[in-house]
Order: sequence, then structure tokens, then C-alpha cells
Amino acid sequence: MLVTSVYTQFFRYLTLLAAGLIGSFSAPVQAAELTAREAYALGQICSYCHARTGTTAPIIADTQQWQRRAENGFEALVHNTVVGIGNMPPLGTCGYCTETEIRNLVKVISGLTPEALPQNSTP
Ligand code: HEC
Repeated sequence: MLVTSVYTQFFRYLTLLAAGLIGSFSAPVQAAELTAREAYALGQICSYCHARTGTTAPIIADTQQWQRRAENGFEALVHNTVVGIGNMPPLGTCGYCTETEIRNLVKVISGLTPEALPQNSTP
């Protein structure tokens, strides 16, 4: 169906866009495997704040900022995203995101590898 294929193309474009965006922040980011919904959320929701300096949101894959925030482990980052923290509303405003999707987005947004996280955390 035409509508379906337009959407498919659109999501494919967003995935590429998200990959390009993350790529431009360079080094420590793992190869991201995002679903179309996750890529859409990253490009259209999380990036709204996390790719914009001056919003007080930690910038995507800015390792220094993220390592400090990850001191309490990966689960704490996920928990704070789900319930909201400071100027970030619950779910990072992604109303349709499931917890699994939030978890995947936090991995990508923080760019942290499991080795970079405290031992008690479960990425
Ligand atoms: C409206 C702006 C906004 C949007 C949209 C947003 N964030 Fe945030 N986010 C913030 C701000 C601001 C902080 C820092 C909050 C603080 O520590 O005071 C933050 C912090 C975080 C943190 C760190 C939490 C911690 O424990 O320090 C994570 C992880 C995060 N965001 C993930 C996401 C994800 C995933 C999305 C998309 C689903 C998202 N954010 C969308 C503004 C936003």
C-alpha cells in the first residue's frame, strides 16, 4: 500500500538520520540497533533537548557528562528517565515508549559501553 511504503521510507530515513547524528558525535558510541519507533523517538523527541546545548540536558554521547550521571548504574538512568528528573518530564516525553524502548534509547543517548558502567549495573 502506498501509505505504508511512504511510512517505511520515512522511518528508514529517520534511522539513517539518527545514525548520522550519533555518528557526528564520534568515538564512544556503539553501533545502534534501533527499531523504527525508537529511531523516531530519538530523532523527534529525545534530540529535541539532548542534541541542543543550553537546555541543561546532557548532550548525546558526551562521555564526560554521561559517566558522571551513570555513577549509580545504568538502571538508575533508566528509572530517572521513566519517572522524570529535573527539567525532564516522565518518559522523556515519549508517551508511546515502552520501558524496553526507553532502555534502548538510554543506551544510545548515553553512548556508554557496559565496561564504562559501574559493576553493579545491568545495561
Ligand atoms: C524536554 C526536554 C527533554 C526531552 C524531550 C528528553 N530529555 Fe532527557 N533530560 C532532560 C534534562 C533537562 C535532563 C537533566 C535533568 C537533571 O538532571 O536535572 C535529562 C536527563 C536525562 C537522562 C539522565 C538521567 C539521570 O539519571 O541523570 C537520561 C538517561 C535521559 N534524559 C534520557 C532521555 C530519553 C531516552 C529521552 C527520549 C525518550 C529524553 N531524555 C528526552 C531533558 C529532556
